[in-house]
Amino acid sequence: MSIQLSLSEAPVRTLSDAAYALIDRELTKYPADQKQSAVMAALRIAQVEKGFVSPEAEAEIAAYLGMAPMAVHEVATFYNMYDLAPQGRFKITICTNLPCALRSGNQAADYLKAKLGIGFNQTTPDGLFTLKEGECMGACGDSPVVLVNNHRMCSWMSNERIDGLLAELIEQAAKGD
Ligand code: FES
Repeated sequence: MSIQLSLSEAPVRTLSDAAYALIDRELTKYPADQKQSAVMAALRIAQVEKGFVSPEAEAEIAAYLGMAPMAVHEVATFYNMYDLAPQGRFKITICTNLPCALRSGNQAADYLKAKLGIGFNQTTPDGLFTLKEGECMGACGDSPVVLVNNHRMCSWMSNERIDGLLAELIEQAAKGD
């Protein structure tokens, strides 16, 4: 017997039609009775659209995929690439795992902290940068390695290259890109 949600129980729809279209496209990759397989993709789509995964988005995704809200929350909290709170315009994640740490990863992290004037899990007062400590990104030979907004990988991040990246991102923000 199916359980119908009353209007008062249905989550408020905060994701756009475009986001739902993207989720629907992900759903075509799985059997109709295994919609939950698209949960990671749906969370990523929500994060790209909203900047972070809100409790409302989790509830929406749970309802759409026919999952328990807690099951969606468990996925969102397990993987550190999902952000459960608003981040800076640019989230900079630097790998400090052992192979990178042995190849200047920690020095690069210290340089970033000093340049931005913040520590890990903090955001600059202008809201431009959030600094995160990341796990292995599969590019240990390229250390120090930085990921920008989860999608752009930057390798061999010497102090000079960090300076260049930050300058580029500041310029990008100034242009409103
Ligand atoms: S340990 Fe840093 S990328 Fe692998």
